[in-house]
Amino acid sequence: MDFSGKTIVVTGGTSGIGAATALAFADAGGRVLISGRNAKGAAKVMADAKRLSGRIDFVQGDLSDRATCDRLIAEAVKRLGRIDVLINNAGIGSRVSSLETTDETWRSVMTVNVDAVFYLSRAAALLMKERRSGTIVNNASELGLIAEPGKFSYCVSKAAVVQITRCMALDLAPFNIRVNAVAPGDTRTAMMERKIRDKGLPIERGVELIALRTPLKRVAMPLEIAKVMMFLASDDASFMTGNVVAVDGGTTVTGPPDTDLAKYAKRSRGRKAAEASAR
Ligand SMILES: NC(=O)c1ccc[n+]([C@@H]2O[C@H](COP(=O)([O-])OP(=O)(O)OC[C@H]3O[C@@H](n4cnc5c(N)ncnc54)[C@H](OP(=O)(O)O)[C@@H]3O)[C@@H](O)[C@H]2O)c1
Repeated sequence: MDFSGKTIVVTGGTSGIGAATALAFADAGGRVLISGRNAKGAAKVMADAKRLSGRIDFVQGDLSDRATCDRLIAEAVKRLGRIDVLINNAGIGSRVSSLETTDETWRSVMTVNVDAVFYLSRAAALLMKERRSGTIVNNASELGLIAEPGKFSYCVSKAAVVQITRCMALDLAPFNIRVNAVAPGDTRTAMMERKIRDKGLPIERGVELIALRTPLKRVAMPLEIAKVMMFLASDDASFMTGNVVAVDGGTTVTGPPDTDLAKYAKRSRGRKAAEASAR
């Protein structure tokens, strides 16, 4: 895919899927601006871009602060001249049920995962509307399409991202602005590692167990999600808008994954023992 001369803003570009996406766009000739709180993570991504002979700029800020959203769009216009592509990727998880969700958890998840997506999309779309050109790609989740117990505010927030995508796609279609989303399944990033650590499992064992519940029997690597976001942002997807593309190894085809990693650990120990005794 060729993004020469295109300008791209990637939120949450300091790690994981966002970093892979920013680097892929830079490698394809795009001028990229990433955002996030972590300056060290950003410095690594910018250095990696240089090695690919690309260029990535960084705006530091916390997207749960409303002013950061406005500042990011203003900086994008100042540094890039215009926004051709907005990738709303930044997001945070929550691993508690509805009954255990405090007001604070609910607000913090909604602020980053939903409010910021709306504020940034609206601001970028107002600029794109002037030029009657532009595209927005949101990073939702398979958990915006199916529900999983114990992840209340995350699931609700990602379902909201799905509807932001569909509603804005309709509102913006008359201005030739496309809006789509990816709904990734389990992807090997810091977010996945935090989830495994919370369960008290060694990282590699946790990854193995998560892979077991996915039809393709593995987790995704960040670039596999990044490539689909790039496709949706590209002219190759010129007739696509309002789509939410699951990139999940088949999970949403089978239904909600069983999340009890401890149970998986027991099952896979049992299977290994059975295999050993059969040998
Ligand atoms: N990994 C998965 O299995 C998976 C599956 C489905 C969907 N997703 C979605 O993919 C997206 C990226 O997640 P990831 O897996 O790549 O995790 P990650 O490595 O933890 O990346 C999350 C990114 O979001 C940014 N971010 C979080 N809170 C922020 C805040 N308050 N202000 C500004 N930036 C903030 C982080 O930047 P800083 O740390 O620099 O602030 C970081 O760059 C998320 O929307 C997530 O929901 C992930």
